[in-house]
Amino acid sequence: MAKVQTTFFCRNCGASSAKWVGKCPACNEWNTFVEEVIHKEKADYKSTWKKENNGISKKPILINEIEKGNEMRIVLKDLELNRVLGGGLVPGSVILIGGEPGIGKSTLLLQVALQFQKHKVLYISGEESESQIKMRAERIPFANENCFLFTETSTQKIGKAFKDLEPDLVVVDSIQTLQSDLIDSTPGSISQIKETAGEMIRFAKETGTPVFLIGHITKDGTLAGPKLLEHMVDTVLQFEGDRHHVYRILRSTKNRFGSTNEIGIYEMQGGGLREVSNPSEILITQRDESLSGVSISATLEGMRPLLIETQALVSTAVYGTPQRNSNGYDAKRLNMLLAILEKKCGLRMGLQDVFVNIAGGLRIEDPGIDLGIIAAIVSSYESMPISNKIAFIGEVGLSGEVRAVSRIEQRISEAEKLGFETVYLSKFNKLPAHNFKIKLVEITKLEELLNLLFG
Ligand code: TYD
Ligand code: MG
Repeated sequence: MAKVQTTFFCRNCGASSAKWVGKCPACNEWNTFVEEVIHKEKADYKSTWKKENNGISKKPILINEIEKGNEMRIVLKDLELNRVLGGGLVPGSVILIGGEPGIGKSTLLLQVALQFQKHKVLYISGEESESQIKMRAERIPFANENCFLFTETSTQKIGKAFKDLEPDLVVVDSIQTLQSDLIDSTPGSISQIKETAGEMIRFAKETGTPVFLIGHITKDGTLAGPKLLEHMVDTVLQFEGDRHHVYRILRSTKNRFGSTNEIGIYEMQGGGLREVSNPSEILITQRDESLSGVSISATLEGMRPLLIETQALVSTAVYGTPQRNSNGYDAKRLNMLLAILEKKCGLRMGLQDVFVNIAGGLRIEDPGIDLGIIAAIVSSYESMPISNKIAFIGEVGLSGEVRAVSRIEQRISEAEKLGFETVYLSKFNKLPAHNFKIKLVEITKLEELLNLLFG
């Protein structure tokens, strides 16, 4: 009987070692090595689905001599996904989508499969049964008579299906459930993920078929499996959002064929995910009267300008230690803004509970919304509403100065487009010659803002 062969793999970076080690020599993480049984057959399985290459062996060629044209993109029906991919799907590319359980990864890709009409799509699921997927497909208002479903986890059987079917697009839900018969370890283990992803990538590259891989993420939010998986694929997308809110953001963290600045916004509805092409309009609550503690900021998500609503509540602290709570905005930064208000503007924030919330369940990391957050907090503190025709743009520095932000022109245009009448912004922005119809109020310090708004 053949001896069982085992190797130790690093769960973080995928490095291997014959012996167990406490600290990974490759990525310096502690305690990440796990033992896995490997047993590779000698057969040349690498050419399982290689098309005949007529005996021509490959040799190096000059970059100038490579003909352009095979990077033509497949434009999908889903405009948000097209944008995130950098203008469509590149043939032969492998895209990994990660996200928390229940966020809508399977829904998104089933939708893509069903919308890819007149093309053969193979949807491989190792997680759900055929009837479960059918039930989901019935909720989605698209139909594709060429969408095949295959509930299989063995890559050898999947490889055979590739040969028989010759699909134009493949979706794998999920990479952690696949297993190769050539390796003995369990599905989801590092060696299985490496092997099965490698096989999917070879299939994509050799036949020019785009492949979507769904990947699970771990508790700390990173994609499960070795980091190596992210290196192997062409594009890594993150599907994020709060499960209790309807909005989802698709972001690319790696893209060999486009920029990683673009985002896609979706709304989860009863009938699947709906693309949101004008996010600002829905993120701002439509109302006639102005309320205290509410302000609008013009921010950027990726390259897209977005107007968001900040709500703040400031009330006298009942208990000894005032509470500070922030939803969708960095809590440390909120504390910093409160300290600036106390020190530079003389507001007694130390005795107040402060709650801040970004509407719609979004998480904003752009410091350009500082000014809007301050305006909402002071508006609630003074119980004085701010007109709902005003938008704020600006980062606040430690000495209470209002600083310039990036892509100011786009932010102002977005506010103008949505019918705002005034924008408060930093005097230090390099404004383009472009004449805006919207009124621009330039300020240098927080005190000026508070005087203008609350007198
Ligand atoms: P799912 O795609 O299964 O998530 P993932 O594959 O990322 O784990 O989506 C799960 C959630 O989406 C589920 O809680 C229900 C919701 N949903 C809708 O609200 N509307 C729909 O039409 C569908 C199909 C799902
Ligand atoms: Mg799923």
